[in-house]
Amino acid sequence: MSDAITILGCDGFIGSHLLEYFLANGNKTIYGFDQDTRRISHIVKSDKRFQFFQGDIYLSPDLDRCINDSEVVISLAALCNPSLYNTLPVDVIESNFNNPVKIVKMCTKYKKWLIHFSTSEVYGKTEASLHCDSYDLHCSDVIMKEDQSQLILGPVSAQRWSYAAAKQLLERYIFAHAIQYGLHYTIIRPFNFIGPTMDFIPGVDGDGVPRVLACFMDSLLNKKDLCLVDEGKNKRVFTYINDAVNAVKLIIDNKQNSVGHIFNIGNPQNECTIKELALLIIGIYQHLYPDCDKSLLNVKHVTAESFYGAGYEDSDRRYPDISKIQKATGWVPAVDLKTALTETMKAYMKKYASR
Ligand code: UGA
Repeated sequence: MSDAITILGCDGFIGSHLLEYFLANGNKTIYGFDQDTRRISHIVKSDKRFQFFQGDIYLSPDLDRCINDSEVVISLAALCNPSLYNTLPVDVIESNFNNPVKIVKMCTKYKKWLIHFSTSEVYGKTEASLHCDSYDLHCSDVIMKEDQSQLILGPVSAQRWSYAAAKQLLERYIFAHAIQYGLHYTIIRPFNFIGPTMDFIPGVDGDGVPRVLACFMDSLLNKKDLCLVDEGKNKRVFTYINDAVNAVKLIIDNKQNSVGHIFNIGNPQNECTIKELALLIIGIYQHLYPDCDKSLLNVKHVTAESFYGAGYEDSDRRYPDISKIQKATGWVPAVDLKTALTETMKAYMKKYASR
């Protein structure tokens, strides 16, 4: 057996950053699977340690062999954009449950360590929002703990939760394989990773509604108002991609402490409401481009239904307890929100402003 790493979804935002890190550090062979090469076309043929297989991951004739030849399998491929949850709910459930089931079975069969990317969205709404103020951190139910918090999703008719329910069921399926067949796994719950190459700009290199940061960049690039859904009152913690990549590195380096665990990866220091995020982004933009037309930098209020369509509900707040991963691996997020946003915005402007 070699000590190769297989990355499923290596052209995605997180996958491509992990790939670049692994190729720049260490000497392991990397097997990458993806249907696209949008983010990694510069790497595909240039690095001998990287073997890339393009196409439908789950139909690839090379998948079985590569997983069998690997030490670690990192599973990232999924539809994970909120605008799809209520518009393509079948595809969302299949991509987040039915397809990765095959990977769980293969890792079990070949006794491989599966590092699976789940989502902070499995927590759903805060328990606090049901019976106390979800904006009060003293209300302990607000803080999301991997092995203690309740997972609270809305009704079936609110299709927003199709994604979280599929992700949650896959977590349970992985856990069941560990209990019944001894699968080695680590589940990661990301809390809003941001960074260069995240998502897309609608009409330029993708269609539909991207996540909030790309929406706001689209507004700045195309001189439109920044839309605040439901007054922008929901809260998120935003985690810089380099911190996230470092967390995965530390998990791999600390296998003994990481196998059999679920970890939150998020930066609680970077929590803000979406309205605060919009105002911070406008402020950074003005600082980066002092000659810009300030009269064009505005926010506007929109309802969730008009922005996303029927069946959309939202997580009110996602605030992680990160003591578990800190204890297991020593990971501490280092990049503050302003720096993370500035780096990401510069990368977006470089890529899209001249088009
Ligand atoms: C999404 C996914 O569902 C998660 O699985 C994923 O882990 C997470 O992103 C992530 O990036 O980690 P969410 O946080 O709801 O979850 O995604 P966004 O689309 O970035 O929305 C964040 C908040 O901004 C929501 O309250 C949304 O309604 C709001 N929003 C979005 C706006 O106010 N304006 C916009 O233009 C776009």
